[in-house]
Amino acid sequence: MAGEERKKTVFKKPVPITLPTLPDPRLMFKKYKKIVDSRMITNASTVKEFEEKAASYLKVKHAVALNSCTSGLMLIMKILNLNGEVILPSFTFHATAHAVVWNGLKPVFVDCDPKTYNIDPIQVEKAITPNTSAILGVHLFGNPANVEELEKIAKKYNLRLIFDAAHAFGSKRKKKNIGGFGDAESFSLSPTKLLTSGEGGIVATNNKELADKLKIARNYGDSGDYDCEFSGFNARMSEFNALMGVETLKMLEKNVQRRNNLVKSYKKSLSNIPGIEFQCVAPADRSTFKDFSIYIDENKFGMSRDKLHDALLAENITVKKYFYPPVHGQKAFKHLQTDGRSLANTVKITDRVISLPLYSHMEENIIGRICGVIGKMCLHRT
Ligand SMILES: Cc1ncc(COP(=O)(O)O)c(C=O)c1O
Repeated sequence: MAGEERKKTVFKKPVPITLPTLPDPRLMFKKYKKIVDSRMITNASTVKEFEEKAASYLKVKHAVALNSCTSGLMLIMKILNLNGEVILPSFTFHATAHAVVWNGLKPVFVDCDPKTYNIDPIQVEKAITPNTSAILGVHLFGNPANVEELEKIAKKYNLRLIFDAAHAFGSKRKKKNIGGFGDAESFSLSPTKLLTSGEGGIVATNNKELADKLKIARNYGDSGDYDCEFSGFNARMSEFNALMGVETLKMLEKNVQRRNNLVKSYKKSLSNIPGIEFQCVAPADRSTFKDFSIYIDENKFGMSRDKLHDALLAENITVKKYFYPPVHGQKAFKHLQTDGRSLANTVKITDRVISLPLYSHMEENIIGRICGVIGKMCLHRT
């Protein structure tokens, strides 16, 4: 409006919630040209190279590249021939549950641990019925799930164990790479992930039969003779996506380290503000920190998560309510009965967490400035 002064924001330009950290395109050009010249532009030698390098990094026997993590989850469940019910957390991105539903299976949502935000093994065991065929864990925000307890339960009840490892390429559980747990783990390589191929997914497994079947499944279930063994779909990765994967894999270790340092910086700056808590990562574990989320205790902080969200957006700081609403409360899943299972931790946390900007090449001084804004918003600061 004429004459009306626009309010000055702390950041002139929006600080993004995340950005992919990408290789110099000049380094990729030669390889890009080689792919074009070969005219083999999908599912060829670069995909194979990416799979081999990913398997070697993860220290697993097999890595199968696909067009997304969701495809990976859908195809793993299809190949394992699951039926009935699959137990999974409600505090996750909705794709975890979509993969269950697309297989005609019933998602059984269970609560998360209040400290790690990951699926609670005690609740998993309580939710098992004669119809349960699998447990689908998630390493939320890159924080490794309690894989040992979940493996024990899966063994005890003869269930399949699958991990949605969308956030966790580069995470470690007690020094062991995420990727080698359960029957299979499916990673996402979309642009918000540390390892990205533009779009894509990669399934890690030590089960040769499963890996071989995945390679057929990503090609409609056709092993090459047009006589399909089962119904798959087109879940192939293109050579261009694989090239991006190969190049970002080279940068991964450095980027995981860098994220961990940036998170340390966030925690240091936020630790003296009342009413802010952090997701607990066990000291022996490593998270990728695909996201850095803080928990807001309104009474101590003096402002609700939702108000803080709006106030930070007004200062050009992009924040996200990852993941709100919880999956069991979303329109697509509301009709599913929770059969008296309490999802109290999930509801409490998803009402109160907010993800702050974080990307691997982020300058540290931005973090100080963001924390300064949050500190000023805390009404109970002495
Ligand atoms: C926990 C989780 N699972 C699955 C997905 C889906 O990944 P994709 O987009 O590669 O299918 C995501 C996407 O971010 C996710 O956060």
